[in-house]
Amino acid sequence: MPVIYTKAPGKIILFGEHAVVYGQPAIAIPVNKVNATARVFPTIDAQADMVRIQAPDINFEACLADLPPDHPFAAAIRLAMQFAGVDRPPAYTLVITSTIPISAGMGSSAAIAIAIIRAITGFLGKPITADETSALAYEVEKIQHGSPSGIDNHVIAHQKPIFFSRNEPIQPLAVEQTTHWVIADTGEKTPTRVTVAEVHHRHTADPETYNQIFMQIGEITRQARQSLITGDLAALGFLMDQNQHLLDLLGVSSPSLEHLIHTAREAGAAGAKLSGGGRGGNIIALSSEEKTRQIETALLTAGATRVITTALTKGGPR
Ligand code: MEV
Repeated sequence: MPVIYTKAPGKIILFGEHAVVYGQPAIAIPVNKVNATARVFPTIDAQADMVRIQAPDINFEACLADLPPDHPFAAAIRLAMQFAGVDRPPAYTLVITSTIPISAGMGSSAAIAIAIIRAITGFLGKPITADETSALAYEVEKIQHGSPSGIDNHVIAHQKPIFFSRNEPIQPLAVEQTTHWVIADTGEKTPTRVTVAEVHHRHTADPETYNQIFMQIGEITRQARQSLITGDLAALGFLMDQNQHLLDLLGVSSPSLEHLIHTAREAGAAGAKLSGGGRGGNIIALSSEEKTRQIETALLTAGATRVITTALTKGGPR
């Protein structure tokens, strides 16, 4: 029996990815239908401070002492130990699992870091707030992604829809009307760090053009915030399509993404776009409640490897 069991959800960006790295706002929501979990099993027979880590989904097994500081599991554990002020913990085994697709724009790395941080601080008896959890997870994200905006760790640690701008306090988004979303995976995978680096190169080569695109995405996101609160499907759909066009100009779309986006629109989505780093990963489509099933079926028929539906309600995502 584990003494500690923690969970962290996935996430999806509705508007503003990539531009958010350059100071523009973005909107993200947690996705509770996928999650990362961490379990701590004390190992009474092992030598003091022996920490074993197992991640059966990826056939991973190691001792903490053998992992380099920049290993994401080790970094999350060591940051949590530091936060708890503990150098030599009682021996334990940490078991990590996740149903969040990797390199697919759904926040898998941040969710795993957050599940670990919650588990280890809990095991060591140190309470931790959502803001503190997010700040530690951001350190792990930096190791993996270079210069992340911080949106993933924030939305996952707070488990609430957010309107986020880099270096500003996060603003929770309280919606008044329910909206329905369909998330579909292309099955193609590109790590976020790769697409973020590519956009960075293009921006360095032609700052004027790319700043202009980022500003337009920022404006779309600000407008979307209001339409999301009031549940204005037509306005939101139009803004999603515009955001997708600008993401394509940034060079982060791909034929497999375009195929699923087109399929979702043909099947009745109010709008559709890629979500996250892009060049594969997931699309997100906005639907009326009645059309959700037909869009889901069309996306699966068109080759999506997984489809998740979620609704954003007054009480949060479900
Ligand atoms: C990743 O989920 C979203 C990006 O905007 C990168 C970031 O915000 O760090 C592509």
